[in-house]
Amino acid sequence: MNDTPLKGLPPRVTVVEVGPRDGLQNEKGVIATADKIRFIDLLSEAGFPVIEATSFVSPRAIPQLADAAEVMAGITRRPGVRYTALVPNAKGMERALAAGLREVAVFTGASESFVQHNINMSIAGSIESFRPVLAMAREAGVRVRGYISTAFGCPYEGVVAPEAVKRVAGALLEIGVEELSIGDTIGVATPNQVVEVTGALAPLAGIERLAMHFHDTRGTALANVMTALQLGVAIFDSAAGGLGGCPYAPGASGNLATEDLLYLLSGLDVETGVDLEKVVAASAFLARARGQAPASRYYAAATAER
Ligand code: COA
Ligand code: ZN
Repeated sequence: MNDTPLKGLPPRVTVVEVGPRDGLQNEKGVIATADKIRFIDLLSEAGFPVIEATSFVSPRAIPQLADAAEVMAGITRRPGVRYTALVPNAKGMERALAAGLREVAVFTGASESFVQHNINMSIAGSIESFRPVLAMAREAGVRVRGYISTAFGCPYEGVVAPEAVKRVAGALLEIGVEELSIGDTIGVATPNQVVEVTGALAPLAGIERLAMHFHDTRGTALANVMTALQLGVAIFDSAAGGLGGCPYAPGASGNLATEDLLYLLSGLDVETGVDLEKVVAASAFLARARGQAPASRYYAAATAER
């Protein structure tokens, strides 16, 4: 516990930078492979413990990340940084292993219609398709994270019950997933829901295996982070410059911006090991490549002062 006026927060938090995957999967324009590589290298230099770099999914589903192998071959892997990528099935796992990944993430959701739209399977079907992925991972000594999207609300079904999230979490843990990332895919969650969902999952997974993945679509992401911190959650996903959203979640613009998360955590005296100004530099680089300003409050304030 740290010694700040606000008591009971974790002293250290793992920030998982998902911008290169969760952000760039949603781009309308084409980002050159070389620019993705430079962006990831800048993020590596910023000191993130984990960077989700790309996806080994069907290039027809996500053409934006069809260059996954080239990206992984091109980046400079900084010692101590864990690089990870999404894989939906055995084929993705083969590609990820060939690219030298030591950590991957499978992804499903808490609402049937979302999972159907996103990966063309039922929730139960998705768990079955992950079994061979987990078997391959065990053999290769690769760590597997599991995403549960639409854990708070679904674009097709509305509010999602914590019990539904718990069922999927149980199934993922049962097949051997080591960490769960609980996603507010469409950015509707409020702190009461964070309490309910965390309360449902912590006894099952252990609080140290829970990550929260908030989107800031309605401006509640940092309030949700604050609540999760007070419950002891110590892993948070975010995207540099607030990149992204999900192509199958209409209106889901905006992961929580890493800069905004880091500013809050540093003010709370919660350690991350990440250099905020270097994240701003990475976002500035990508903003030039995309021709669009980042959607981060901190970034806007920091660059306006210059
Ligand atoms: N890597 C590369 N190609 C893949 C692949 C993978 N991991 N998985 C499937 N494919 C290819 C197949 O070889 C097949 O190609 P072909 O038609 O040229 O033979 C094609 O994709 C369709 O494969 P199929 O097994 O029938 O899958 P599908 O069409 O039902 O799609 C998924 C299922 C999961 C592969 C696909 O929906 C997907 O990749 N979704 C990812 C969505 C995503 O990343 N969302 C963002 C997360 S929020
Ligand atoms: Zn996201």
